[in-house]
Amino acid sequence: MTVLATALDTASAEYAAHREALLGKIDALDAEHAKALAGGGEKYVERHRGRGKLLARERVELLLDEDTPFLELSPLAAWGSEYAVGASLITGIGTVSGVECLITANDPTVRGGASNPWTLKKAQRANEIAFANRLPCISLVESGGADLPSQKEIFIPGGALFRDLTRLSAAGIPTVAVVFGNSTAGGAYIPGMSDHVIMVKERSKVFLGGPPLVKMATGEESDDESLGGAEMHARVSGLADHLAEDEPEALLRARRVVARLNWRKAHADPAPAEEPKYDPEELLGIVPEDLKTPFDPHEVIARIVDGSDFDAFKPLYGPSLVTGWARLHGYPVGILANAQGVLFSEESQKAAQFIQLANQRDIPLLFLHNTTGYMVGKEYEQGGIIKHGAMMINAVSNSRVPHLSVLMGASYGAGHYGMCGRAYEPRFLFAWPSAKSAVMGPQQLAGVLSIVARQSAAAKGRPYDDEADAGLRAMVEQQIEAESLPMFLSGRLYDDGVIDPRDTRTVLGLCLSAVHTAPVEGARGGFGVFRM
Ligand code: COA
Repeated sequence: MTVLATALDTASAEYAAHREALLGKIDALDAEHAKALAGGGEKYVERHRGRGKLLARERVELLLDEDTPFLELSPLAAWGSEYAVGASLITGIGTVSGVECLITANDPTVRGGASNPWTLKKAQRANEIAFANRLPCISLVESGGADLPSQKEIFIPGGALFRDLTRLSAAGIPTVAVVFGNSTAGGAYIPGMSDHVIMVKERSKVFLGGPPLVKMATGEESDDESLGGAEMHARVSGLADHLAEDEPEALLRARRVVARLNWRKAHADPAPAEEPKYDPEELLGIVPEDLKTPFDPHEVIARIVDGSDFDAFKPLYGPSLVTGWARLHGYPVGILANAQGVLFSEESQKAAQFIQLANQRDIPLLFLHNTTGYMVGKEYEQGGIIKHGAMMINAVSNSRVPHLSVLMGASYGAGHYGMCGRAYEPRFLFAWPSAKSAVMGPQQLAGVLSIVARQSAAAKGRPYDDEADAGLRAMVEQQIEAESLPMFLSGRLYDDGVIDPRDTRTVLGLCLSAVHTAPVEGARGGFGVFRM
């Protein structure tokens, strides 16, 4: 009875058009992901291999249990910036000796694996994920430390990385460092602050200052091995707990360390779940290229939840926001999904009530975004849209169950906030290539700017140049459009990745599994004052 029916006509021209547009965007996305995979490019990859070293992604692969997935996070970090796509760091969640871990790996083929401002943001986000979900952390280290030309952006805030490692440890979350090469100066505190340290013979270099710096500082003559080699740290300083002969052995040692952590998830994995009744391939034909055209989010829900089974909550009240209960890979979820785009008072109040219910029952929430924001206009202001939207934002802010957000289409204005946008700290946030997010739509924003400029000219008694206005509007529109696109936003770490819609169920399943490593407990009260 609660299995969703579908009205999607896969033979229709609209379906074909939506699909074609989205496939085009997925191709463009793949091209950008390929840049991250290519690391520092052929020259540096060859040089690295020539030194008998494994690439960062090969290290991750050898670390993971065979045939298990790796949920890579923020692969487009630094997109659109002067730095390489991927920000010279790989982060993600994978299973090591049966334990879901947060893994980071420097990519030494990109500027010696040095950390630029985006690397720092990406590493900090990884630590946040480890904290919130209680995931053991494994750092695969080989880095030239701070990217020196941008040191002003990273030196002072960068200290947080070492602070986080010890805070993770203090919270009982294990930390493991495997050092494959350079880990000098501040970088030395990655092994320094980790619970478990593995170094590779004749490869690891861990010192506060290398030979030239020591010579400058004290006049002492020294060499890499005696200052910070793996043998020295394993036998003399005690910084290394394990001395590995080579890289594969180091990764094997890391797997053994994790095997002995006696690590237990707060929640056991659920029983295997029924697949959705409808083909996930059809997710490509739902979202129109023009986001002004609404789409029915039930069609999405039907293709991501177990058995396409969904119990709607208050379907007749505030129908522009679909709310209801389902399971996803066996985990219970409460879903909030925008239907017509606009959030009215009823939708906001319904959301606040629904979020409280999920908290009472310890059920994680999934937000599926396609909203242009809260309704504006005299009728709605007088009807209390601000206080009702505030109720929803209050509920989202103080809710304590894990939140997952997926930007499918529009995510504009305060609607982005109410639907648990990035600042509301969802445990994970992913975007589809069809998504757009900004303070408002590009046309609206350009129009508002033009009205303000016109009024300003009138107030000063100056004539208004309509021709220049049209040019300005077009330029602003173009700029805001570019800044609303998922690759741009992902580059700035405003999401955890842009995903192929067909992977949504798998990605969310991996996230839900990670989330259940920590206890899932809702807020029992503790919300702010709900303005009635
Ligand atoms: N900041 C900015 N760029 C850096 C960098 C850093 N910390 N470390 C390396 N790079 C750049 C190099 O300039 C080089 O660029 P190029 O190929 O355009 O000339 C590229 O990255 C590769 O470096 P290279 O020295 O050729 O690689 P390597 O593998 O032989 O050595 C290091 C890597 C990290 C050992 C070495 O580059 C190094 O010692 N860097 C400085 C380390 C340091 O003192 N960091 C500050 C710590 S806070």
